[in-house]
Amino acid sequence: MQSWVIGNWKQNPATNNDVNMLLDQLLAAVAKDGVTTPCQLMVAPSCVHLASVSGRVQGTPILSAAQDISAHSGSTGAYTGDCSAQQVADAGATWTILGHSERRQYHRETNDTLLQKLTHALSQNLNVVLCIGETQAQYDASETFAVLVEQLAVVKDWLAQQSLESISAIQASNLAEHLIIAYEPVWAIGTGKVPTVTEVAATHDYIKQTLASFNNNLAEFTVLYGGSVNADNAASFAANPAINGALVGGAALKSESFLAIAKAFSSAKS
Ligand code: 13P
Repeated sequence: MQSWVIGNWKQNPATNNDVNMLLDQLLAAVAKDGVTTPCQLMVAPSCVHLASVSGRVQGTPILSAAQDISAHSGSTGAYTGDCSAQQVADAGATWTILGHSERRQYHRETNDTLLQKLTHALSQNLNVVLCIGETQAQYDASETFAVLVEQLAVVKDWLAQQSLESISAIQASNLAEHLIIAYEPVWAIGTGKVPTVTEVAATHDYIKQTLASFNNNLAEFTVLYGGSVNADNAASFAANPAINGALVGGAALKSESFLAIAKAFSSAKS
């Protein structure tokens, strides 16, 4: 079964040289032992490094993703500081992350913003990793499922929009091939705290059921777990069939830990 291990580099590494060193190590390891089959590897560098990273991974088993795209326009326009879906795709990325909790928190991203971004990405044939997850306070108040339903409404709204007007190259019926959900509890990101595998699996099942309830013609979605995944805990997540991969932050910045996570998923899912 195909699994996914995605490195979200966030605002790292500091220099182009460091980016190239990390990529050198990843590419050498993948070329040497092809460790990752059937695990699909992807890296999401900052937008300033996206074109060079995408160029270097082209033709290798590693895919590249942007970390975000403009909500305002899918192509060009007077939106200082933004990068559009078209520009990101032209830089060589085939995916973009959307709705990461750091963007929801620091850039006040709402479902309306995310619907615009999702629409632009899919219209430009850019695949999407949509991040969802509850805060510590919401987890403590047992509101996780309610929060996830509210955040997944973006997908429901995209489907509703699509049924009115087929504006995307990507059709609703094959959405599951172009959209991955990453469940990232905000309280687990960068903290070393993780939910139990049983909790993650129940949440992933709930996410899959919620998406299926939007349109029963959709194939089952890929759902990844993110939040303090590391070389030591990856195998326990990988062993659960509801967990289709990992979205990795800190541990993706060292090739050894990122590849160890990939190997854990690769061996558990083969
Ligand atoms: P950490 O793996 O550093 O907890 O970050 C997870 C994350 O935010 C990936 O998008």
